[in-house]
Amino acid sequence: MDPLEYLKENEAKSLEQLKELLRIPSVSAQSAHKEDMIKCAKWVAGYLNNLGFKSDIMDTGGHPVVYGEYHKSDDVPTVLVYGHYDVQPPDPLDLWKSAPFDPIEEGGYLIARGATDDKGQMFTHLKGVESYLKTAGSIPVNVKFLIEGEEETASENLTVFIENHKDKLKADIVLVSDGSQYGLDMPAINYGLRGVASIEVKVTGPDRDLHSGSYGGSIANPINILCKMIGRLHDDSGRIAIDGFYDDTYTASDWEKEQLAELPFDKNEYLASTGSLKLWGEKGYTPQEHTWIRPTLDCNGITGGYQGEGGKTIIPSWASVKITMRLVPNMNPDDICDKAEAYLKKICPDTVKLEISKHGGANPVQVPTDGPWLEAAARAIKTGFGREPFFTKEGGSIPVVESFKSILGLDTLLIGFGQHNDNAHSPNERFLIRDFHRGCRTSAALLEELSRVMI
Ligand code: BES
Ligand code: MN
Ligand code: MN
Repeated sequence: MDPLEYLKENEAKSLEQLKELLRIPSVSAQSAHKEDMIKCAKWVAGYLNNLGFKSDIMDTGGHPVVYGEYHKSDDVPTVLVYGHYDVQPPDPLDLWKSAPFDPIEEGGYLIARGATDDKGQMFTHLKGVESYLKTAGSIPVNVKFLIEGEEETASENLTVFIENHKDKLKADIVLVSDGSQYGLDMPAINYGLRGVASIEVKVTGPDRDLHSGSYGGSIANPINILCKMIGRLHDDSGRIAIDGFYDDTYTASDWEKEQLAELPFDKNEYLASTGSLKLWGEKGYTPQEHTWIRPTLDCNGITGGYQGEGGKTIIPSWASVKITMRLVPNMNPDDICDKAEAYLKKICPDTVKLEISKHGGANPVQVPTDGPWLEAAARAIKTGFGREPFFTKEGGSIPVVESFKSILGLDTLLIGFGQHNDNAHSPNERFLIRDFHRGCRTSAALLEELSRVMI
C-alpha cells in the first residue's frame, strides 16, 4: 500500500484520533488547565512514540513543548515541523452550539475548540509521517517535531528554549500549518505574517467611585478621558496617529502588489462574511492590503465603571483598555510599544494617573517566495488538493516563526489548511473534514517532495 492509500483507508480512524486530542481542554491562558496542558503534551508525545519517534515532553519554564525526532540518514533534508497544542479559551460558552471540548461532526465540519487552530492542522503532519512509517516502514526525510503549548499566549518561553537547543533543532527547513487557505478549495502558500505588539492602558481619577451628582463637573471622569485618548489613536483618514508609528514600515514590492491585485476578491462577499455594516480602513489601500501589508491598532477590551443591571450615577475611579497593534516587516514590537507609551503620555491630561503595561509581542515575518522548498510545497499541494496553490499572506501572527530565522537561520514553509471562516478564537471553531484529509495527504506528499531537494 502507498502512503496516500493508507490515509484514504484510515480516514475514519484519523478523525476519531483527532477528536480524542480535541477532548483535552488545553487552554494555555488559564491556570486551571495546567494539568490538561501536561495531559495534552503527553498525548502528542505518546502518539509520536507509538509511531517510532524518539519523543519527550521538555520543560520551558512555562507549559512544556513536545519534541520528537526521526532520523533517516545524513544525506536527506531535515524538516522541523512546528505546531501548537494549546488553544484559546472557549468563552463565551453560551454561543457554542455544542460543548467546545466535545467534538461533533456537522455539515462536513468537525466542531470543537482547536479543530483548526491548531490541533487539527498540526495533526495532519503526525498523519503524514504515520502514512510512511505504516507503509514503507520509513520516512524519506529526517523529521523533527516541535509542538509547543504557549503559542496563544505569545510563545514567551519558546525563544529561550530555541536558543538553548540550537543543535537539537538543526534542520534545513521549517514546516508550519497554522493558517488558512485563500478560500474554499483554494489551497495556499503564505509568504508573510504580521507581527503584533500589545499594551494595556489604565487611567485612574478619584480614589473611589464618586456620586456623579455631587462631584460631576468638578472631577474628571476616567472613562471619558480614556475614550477621548482612544479616539486620538487614529486620525480621520484611518492612519494611526502615534508619533513615529510608520517610521520603519516597509513598502510592499511591486511583485507583491501585483500578486495581491491578481487574487480573486469579492468585497461584498468579504463584508457579508463579517456581518458588519460597511468596510473601513486606512485611505488608499484595499481590504486585503489593510490586513496583509499595513499595520493596525485595535482596542480588544475596555473596562471601567458600573456594568451591572440598571443604571448607577457615578464618576468611576478608573478605566482601562487592552490594545494590540499588528505590525508589518521592519517594525519592532518593543519599539512600537515605546512609541505608543510616549504618545499616550503626551495626550493624557494631568487630571488622571496613567499606567501602561506592555505585554508579549511577535515580530512580523516575510519568507522567500521562490526556491526549491517552495516548489516542493507547491507540488505537494497539487497532489493533496488537486490544484495549484495561491500565494498569500496572513494578517495574524505566529511569534516563533521569526525566531526560526533569526536564531536557527531557517526559512519556514507556511501551508495553512484551514479557512478564515473556521471561527478560530470564536465560538463554534471548526475544521472542514475534507480540508483535514487533504492536509494529511499534502503532508505525506510533501515528505516525498522534500526528500528530492538538494541540500
Ligand atoms: N494560528 C494563529 C495565527 C494566524 C491567525 C495565522 C490568522 C493566520 C491567520 C495563531 O494561533 C494565533 O492566534 N496567533 C496570535 C498570536 C498572539 C497571541 C501573539 C495572534 O495572531 O493573535
Ligand atoms: Mn494557531
Ligand atoms: Mn490562535
